[in-house]
Amino acid sequence: MIQPGLKGIIATETSISHVDGEKGQLIYRGYNASYLAEHYSFEEVAFLLWEGYIPNEQELNSLKRKMSGYRTIPTYIEKILLTLPHDMDLMSVLRTVVSSLSSPTFYLREPKEQAIQITAMLPTVIGYRKNQLEDTSMPEIPEEVDFVDYYLRVLTGRKPNNYHKKALETYFILTMDHGLNASTFAARVTTSTESDLVSAVTSAIGTMKGPLHGGAPTGVIQLLDDVMEDGNTDDVIRTKLKNGEKLMGFGHRVYRTIDPRAEVLKHRLKQLAGKDAWLDLAINVEQKAIQLLNEWKPGRRLYTNVEFYAAAIMKAIDMEPAYFTPTFTASRVVGWTAHCLEQSMNNTIFRPQSKYIGPPVQV
Ligand SMILES: CC(C)(COP(=O)(O)OP(=O)(O)OC[C@H]1O[C@@H](n2cnc3c(N)ncnc32)[C@H](O)[C@@H]1OP(=O)(O)O)[C@@H](O)C(=O)NCCC(=O)NCCS
Repeated sequence: MIQPGLKGIIATETSISHVDGEKGQLIYRGYNASYLAEHYSFEEVAFLLWEGYIPNEQELNSLKRKMSGYRTIPTYIEKILLTLPHDMDLMSVLRTVVSSLSSPTFYLREPKEQAIQITAMLPTVIGYRKNQLEDTSMPEIPEEVDFVDYYLRVLTGRKPNNYHKKALETYFILTMDHGLNASTFAARVTTSTESDLVSAVTSAIGTMKGPLHGGAPTGVIQLLDDVMEDGNTDDVIRTKLKNGEKLMGFGHRVYRTIDPRAEVLKHRLKQLAGKDAWLDLAINVEQKAIQLLNEWKPGRRLYTNVEFYAAAIMKAIDMEPAYFTPTFTASRVVGWTAHCLEQSMNNTIFRPQSKYIGPPVQV
């Protein structure tokens, strides 16, 4: 029997994360991701995914020191960045840069160390590119700032306020991993051939780039902009559905109830923003969209997914849409690399079958 998109197929075992679609729970190594997002930092949760437990103070400080040390990009990568066309999209830039890390020196490090280095470097690459396109210089950033603080500083050139930091950290933690999603699967497939970590992350970035996966927040902004411009939520949504368009930020392959990440983000955004016109619009569109989607596909429960409120959070912190998917990438890289490490510990090459439906044999 064919299962298009491998829907419902269990293709591997993992102890990294679990998505319970019926209960609406996302679990990282035995902890509820919503709980982790409330009580722990980016670095602590990254450590948990890579190592399997929450670090003690010493381990946490050691990870922070390493990440800070790995932020700087090698000179040859700066040169690559300078030669890339200005109109190349940022996900393609990230894919190209990560791919170019494949030097013998890089591979001298243990895979876990490589995972930390790739994760630590991505914000610098994103910031470098932004400054390059805007003809500004990279801001001076103190070594000791943590990952999220650093990320906001490279993008804005300013010390972030705590609200923005907390909003982004919540988003980062909630999106760090998510079971065997398309990009993680791509990373594991690449690792399963005994290829290297850089190749696996390169495959994953290429997969993440698609609008049905990491590109959705940009589509959400488009949807909200369309509603803002037209003024009639009902009309905009009905027209999109009639034209066969997908409503970005809704529906999920696994969740059959509200995406718990969307709930936490919505809650966080309400705490942070207070009365915010953008949030009001998002809530209004969400309610209408759910109602119309469920009228349109009765029996198939479609709910808001993480991307919907992720877009609202990114808008609240004044991030331009071009940076949405790269920002998602900056956190998901932790999950990808954790999965690659796990895959290589107990590996079987992925090699499913296909059913031939081409012309019969001619000769
Ligand atoms: C995420 C997604 C790819 C899951 O796809 P899926 O597993 O095939 O979804 P389902 O099996 O639940 O789809 C059931 C039906 O609802 C439709 N549907 C699902 N999500 C929809 C959406 N957001 N807008 C309109 N229709 C949607 C599907 O086209 C399908 O219709 P069909 O039965 O006529 O083929 C899909 O919901 C989607 O494209 N959403 C928009 C993009 C998005 O927000 N992505 C981020 C995911 S975190």
